[in-house]
Amino acid sequence: MTSVVTLKTELASRIDAANDLDALEKIRVEALGKKGAITALMQNLGAMQPEERKTFGAEINALKDSVTRLLEARFTSLKDAAVTARLAAERQDMTLPVAKSGTGKIHPISQTVDEMIAIFADMGFTVAEGPDIEDDFHNFTALNFPLGHPARAMHDTFYLPDAPEGEDKKRLLRTHTSPVQVRTMLTQKPPIRIIIPGRTYRSDYDMTHTPMFHQLEGLVIDKTTHMGHLKGCLIDFCKTFFGVDQLPTRFRPSFFPFTEPSAEMDIGCDRSNGALKIGEGKDWLEILGCGMVHPNVLRNCGIDPEEYQGFAFGMGIERVAMLKYGIPDLRTFFEGDTRWLDHYGFDPLARPNIATGL
Ligand code: DAH
Repeated sequence: MTSVVTLKTELASRIDAANDLDALEKIRVEALGKKGAITALMQNLGAMQPEERKTFGAEINALKDSVTRLLEARFTSLKDAAVTARLAAERQDMTLPVAKSGTGKIHPISQTVDEMIAIFADMGFTVAEGPDIEDDFHNFTALNFPLGHPARAMHDTFYLPDAPEGEDKKRLLRTHTSPVQVRTMLTQKPPIRIIIPGRTYRSDYDMTHTPMFHQLEGLVIDKTTHMGHLKGCLIDFCKTFFGVDQLPTRFRPSFFPFTEPSAEMDIGCDRSNGALKIGEGKDWLEILGCGMVHPNVLRNCGIDPEEYQGFAFGMGIERVAMLKYGIPDLRTFFEGDTRWLDHYGFDPLARPNIATGL
């Protein structure tokens, strides 16, 4: 029979040498488990004389206690070591600066939309959105394009192949952001002062047209807003957006079914020397469409034109981005070429705001 002292020494050194929790558990079972060495010693007690049993029993209990304490101590230190090792392995250095190379860039469209939002937000506009998949009613009819109106044909509409009941419900990819005017007026009471950035779709593809492009729409409805406000608002916008204080502007009469009167806004530019310079010069550049909201549109949206009036405008986001940032070809916006994005993209950590300049 192994002596208590030998067993104690042997277990103590094995416990000390155990270098993971599994090894330690194996030792515990071999010492204190049902078939363990200490348990076996205890089973001998029954066959002993009372005196012998007393001394031997005390020795075994002491052994059992000391082995249990050694196991617990080793268990705690192995557990601590495991946590420390895991913490070291999973350590993240949060103090590292953002790597200069290999970071993403903000696409010029996102940048331009953010700049426009910053400017109009400063004038008190909020951002509204609507679905890309529209129906004929919101995209055309409510905007005063009656069925068979020639202006419908000019939109090169993508219709969805479903054929629901009634022309008005025919689904399509919105050809402009103007349907969001309708959706807003149908659900919100005036006063309304919103801008609507978003994707628009027309079946067209060349140097200056892509089947998907972006527009920014604006709508102001209240009791007193007039053409003078429209002009002031858009002139201020263009000056801030292009960063040109002395920017010549002009409004030419035009036609849109949903505005009356309608106008197109031009900004001054100089095309001499083969380069385009925005600001004073001999030339003009068309920049957006606008007008006073047509009474029929107000009526179609449940707003009384005797009480309310206002203006609307719409512009192509790619177009103004190309002008501002000197991007020559519209199609490159959507080619997903990372070299192009590296060149024309913007720092994700420098977001546009009016205070620090755009
Ligand atoms: N929806 C027009 C288009 O896509 C742009 C436009 C012109 C919007 C005049 C307006 C507006 O709100 O008043 O061609």
